[in-house]
Amino acid sequence: MSTTVDLTRGAIESIDSAREIDDILGMPDQLRDALWRVESANLEPHDAPGGLIVAGMGGSAIGGALAREALGDRASRPIVLARGYELPAWATPDTTVLCASYSGNTEETLAVYEAAGALGARRIVSTTGGKLAEAARAEDVPVIPLPGGFQPRAAVAYSLVVALEVAWLCGAGERLHAEIDVAAAHVEQIVEMWGPDAAGDSLAKQLARGLHGTIPQVAGSGLTAPIAYRWKTQINENAKTPCFAHELPELDHNEIEGWQGASQLGRFSAVFLDDSDLHPRIRQRIELTRGLIEADAAGTYRVESIGQNRTERLVSLVLLGDLVSIYLAVLREVDPTPVPIIERLKSALARG
Ligand code: F6R
Repeated sequence: MSTTVDLTRGAIESIDSAREIDDILGMPDQLRDALWRVESANLEPHDAPGGLIVAGMGGSAIGGALAREALGDRASRPIVLARGYELPAWATPDTTVLCASYSGNTEETLAVYEAAGALGARRIVSTTGGKLAEAARAEDVPVIPLPGGFQPRAAVAYSLVVALEVAWLCGAGERLHAEIDVAAAHVEQIVEMWGPDAAGDSLAKQLARGLHGTIPQVAGSGLTAPIAYRWKTQINENAKTPCFAHELPELDHNEIEGWQGASQLGRFSAVFLDDSDLHPRIRQRIELTRGLIEADAAGTYRVESIGQNRTERLVSLVLLGDLVSIYLAVLREVDPTPVPIIERLKSALARG
């Protein structure tokens, strides 16, 4: 375990060979570009009384989960994720199915694309190409084209905005176009605060140092629940370490007990993702839970979203987690970009 690596831009770039950090810092432009791409796709607004299903995996699915929470009580119909090979059994032809796969070659998403077609549901595809784009073109299914050159997980701004805009187009939620624009401007400021050129004691760098050498347990609730999951997956893929996510209040009914054995088994840390709009009892639970597990944890952290509107606050914590995951990779001296085990698994499956 490295303790000497610093987190200057030079140190980051020497380990982050493909400059994933730049893709993360590019979030403001990506949010705006995503709006433009959906608009340019000229999709017809339509009414989907059955709501919206976002089909996708990993980095392509997270946008749907984030979009649902960005909308909050501005969602007027169910927005559900299909992370797997099948549509939910209750899906009907009046459900809209957004098939999101950055590569366009994810077999689970391709299977749901087929299933939605067989059901007669309206399909929309978002991808850079692959088999999904090919199938959609052959069947006149609208495609929102994503820009190439990203790791799928680094295209989160695109997957979020596409899901939000499609939710609006199919009548599942209010349009958050203006809110996304405000969020993009806000993220520009946050990048200065937490990015690689910020001081060594900036929040993101401090957090990475605190989590380094520990197994983080990231907790969220409501708006911050899918962000906790995003932190987990970014730490898994970028820093190549185990990390787990859970939700409040549920974790107060089980996981909290497990902390008693934590210090005997390893170094576990806890991160609580807070938001000013969480239920007051959840905010109280964060403080109480933190106090009760503190003695058994290698560290506990409470971080709060920043910004006015829900989308701003959501993306502030997504950005923080993304940066922390890169800084953790640097502290561990591992290149954040390659995901060799995922690739090996996909190749083994492709061989049949
Ligand atoms: C890789 C990543 C993965 C992929 C997932 C699905 O950066 O984040 O979680 O997103 O394996 O692949 P796509 O997005 O191409 O459908």
